[in-house]
Amino acid sequence: MQPLVLGIETSCDETAIGIVRGRTLLANEIASSVDEHARFGGVVPEIAARAHLEAMLPSIERAVKTAGISLRDIDAVAVTAGPGLIGALLVGVASASGLAQGLGRPLYGVNHLASHVSVDYLTHSDPLEPTIALLVSGGHSSLLQVDDITGSITKLGATMDDAAGEAFDKIARIMGVGFPGGPAIDALAKSGKVNAIDFPRGLTTSNDWQSRPFDFSFSGLKTAVARYLESTPDYAKGDVAASFQEAVVDVLLLKALAACKQTGIDSLVIAGGVAANSRLRELAEQRCEKAGIQLRIPAPALCTDNGAMVAALGSLLVSAGRAPAAAAFDADSSLPVTTINLR
Ligand code: KG4
Ligand code: ZN
Repeated sequence: MQPLVLGIETSCDETAIGIVRGRTLLANEIASSVDEHARFGGVVPEIAARAHLEAMLPSIERAVKTAGISLRDIDAVAVTAGPGLIGALLVGVASASGLAQGLGRPLYGVNHLASHVSVDYLTHSDPLEPTIALLVSGGHSSLLQVDDITGSITKLGATMDDAAGEAFDKIARIMGVGFPGGPAIDALAKSGKVNAIDFPRGLTTSNDWQSRPFDFSFSGLKTAVARYLESTPDYAKGDVAASFQEAVVDVLLLKALAACKQTGIDSLVIAGGVAANSRLRELAEQRCEKAGIQLRIPAPALCTDNGAMVAALGSLLVSAGRAPAAAAFDADSSLPVTTINLR
């Protein structure tokens, strides 16, 4: 029998509940406080935590109703234990442990980043591993080697400054085109030329390829765009958006494909909020096809934060016979990507 797992995600501004049976998605409810943060140009932790408290019970009720199950049917509860905003994470962990204890079911404290990657299992049934994973979100940008999504993730590289999503958000803020910036830039870029402005690709000199082949840096690009905007008062927004986006996407894919080549792994998963980017998806398809690499990118709605990904990883952990967490555990705002779940 496939395990019925409820997943709770509260690491940032989405209160998200997912319910899966095995690898089948039954419900994916998301209540976002993004509108309350928009006027601040970024997520305000206090506001996010308070919004999670308000949204938690109604979201669980909606998810249970959508899935057509009863809470008593659930075999296990999974919750994001980190990384993320500590106050926001704590609301999820406290709610999940109350639910698990009340139902007398095991509780899994799972890693947000591994969850982003594992959501692919809801779409593809053939084995994912071994695979290279390009994880690109608002808080993280990493290249990972995934040998076993429930037991072995190795970090090959990560950003040395901003995350890719953060770069999108910052440039969008400077251009005054809205928050979160990713979707805004993605839309604007459709009216611009990708090669209108030659923006720099971070960490791609021959020295960098020797010493930091799988690390990223977006701060130089951010500064170059800011300088361009300052010195070009009548700039074309579409061209800036398209050229900036191209610089980010180009370097992400260059390094992801280099990781595939070096490890001899011919499979790539792209996950996290930035994986919703239409140009990244398009260019990844072209380049992977040319390089003979099997590419998987979850549907855009499953790339940004959601509860289905937490439930998916929970379900995989149950099926693999991994032990649940001890009775009580703390959320960890800087949980390393290599810790897939808390014991
Ligand atoms: O994974 P996610 O939902 O939350 C974190 O774990 O951080 O990622 C959010 C990030 C934001 O920075 C947002 O601007 C970015 O993903 N994002 C995008 C797109 N949609 C969301 N970036 C580029 N293009 C998009 N279409
Ligand atoms: Zn995320």
